Amino acid sequence: MTHAWTADSWRSHEGLQMPEYTDPAKLKSVTEKLASYPPLVFAGEARQLTSALGEVAEGRGFLLQGGDCAESFAEFSADNIRDTFRVLLQMAIVLTFGAKVPVVKVGRMAGQFAKPRSAPTETVGGQELPSYRGDIVNGFDFTPEARIPDPDRMLQAYTQAAASLNLLRAFSQGGYADITRVHSWNLAFAQGTPGSEQYAELAQRISSALDFMTAAGINPSNAERMKRVDFYTSHEALLLEYEQALTRTDSITGKPVAGSGHMLWIGDRTRQLDGAHIEFCRGVINPIGLKAGPSMEADDLLRIIDRLNPDNTAGRLTLIGRFGAGKVGDKLPELIRAVQSEGRKVVWSCDPMHGNTIKSASGYKTRPFERVRQEVKEFFAICRAEGAYPGGVHFEMTGKDVTECTGGLRDVTDENLADRYHTACDPRLNAAQALELAFLLAAELEEQHRADAAAAVAG
Ligand code: PEP
Ligand code: CO
Repeated sequence: MTHAWTADSWRSHEGLQMPEYTDPAKLKSVTEKLASYPPLVFAGEARQLTSALGEVAEGRGFLLQGGDCAESFAEFSADNIRDTFRVLLQMAIVLTFGAKVPVVKVGRMAGQFAKPRSAPTETVGGQELPSYRGDIVNGFDFTPEARIPDPDRMLQAYTQAAASLNLLRAFSQGGYADITRVHSWNLAFAQGTPGSEQYAELAQRISSALDFMTAAGINPSNAERMKRVDFYTSHEALLLEYEQALTRTDSITGKPVAGSGHMLWIGDRTRQLDGAHIEFCRGVINPIGLKAGPSMEADDLLRIIDRLNPDNTAGRLTLIGRFGAGKVGDKLPELIRAVQSEGRKVVWSCDPMHGNTIKSASGYKTRPFERVRQEVKEFFAICRAEGAYPGGVHFEMTGKDVTECTGGLRDVTDENLADRYHTACDPRLNAAQALELAFLLAAELEEQHRADAAAAVAG
């Protein structure tokens, strides 16, 4: 690293997957406006999340990160935000019970608008147009006008993120997150489905644990922890024009902080060591996620870690593996060994979505629930075998009853996909599938707990 970091030093690095704006004057006026607006998050919150993730890195917490693949302007509503938030909290309760450690809750929300694409253009019926890059960049409609990158969209994204965050703050602090209310959903997701019994027992034990606490005098009216939650936001730091405009200075440490969300991550397509995205992210104090797919090499990973976390701060960096079911074993073990032999502190998290996208017979992009589940299982098994702590999961999911991923207890079939396929980008788990996955994960975590306890007694 030969030069000092500044909020715009990314501009002298190659930046993949970003739009070319055709109206520089408009771009300038939009980014100047954004730079004068209040940040969406405060530096103290970002620092607090880093320390919560530091606990995760040390094996004393578990990270649950989830939400839309892409938030959209059209699907923006209080109901959508509430439903996703509620399912995330329900999943968190189930996971807390399984993992026996605090669950750090991070939404892919209030800023998850920009999308990397596999091709720069898209051809439909012989017409070739620039790809859709998320509502913060251009429009989804397949018309030449919609696909022109428009800087004004950054202002709308900012406004939507601010309103979303406002509601999320109210929900998490204002009584909506009361554990007894959140728990009252119980097993609705599994009701009436074949195989629901396997979840009933675990649900019953969670209820009993809550009953016991209530009987012992611990309840939401006297225990803050049962009434409020810490809920954080995250998104892919892809559109650096927007990120730069929202960068502020932490008044406590004097260091730069991204004001667009609590946690930022770098996508699998934009993690080049000397690329613009790593350059931007290395300079802000927010906790950073790094996606790692099958093409990640161990020595590259170590160089990236050096750049993003030179002080080896636990919680600063979360490695989010997204290899695909059946492929985790090809790469993850060597990555873990490299990181461990260098004594690097990271959170190991699993994104079982992005390596498992297929095209259904009916032509929809989908993900089979079984493959998602399989990848999580492989991730846990490999972390255990390599002596790393499996610290978290990263899902694309929604609180709505969509039909985008196949399978699960309520078995979404190929033929069902057309019924409620609403995603603006990748297929998401619906509320029932997301909860089902949380139950399966909790059962797995409990099993490991038992094995560890037995080993401790024996050892
Ligand atoms: C995403 O998280 O939506 C995404 C594009 O992931 P990845 O960078 O891992 O492909
Ligand atoms: Co996605």
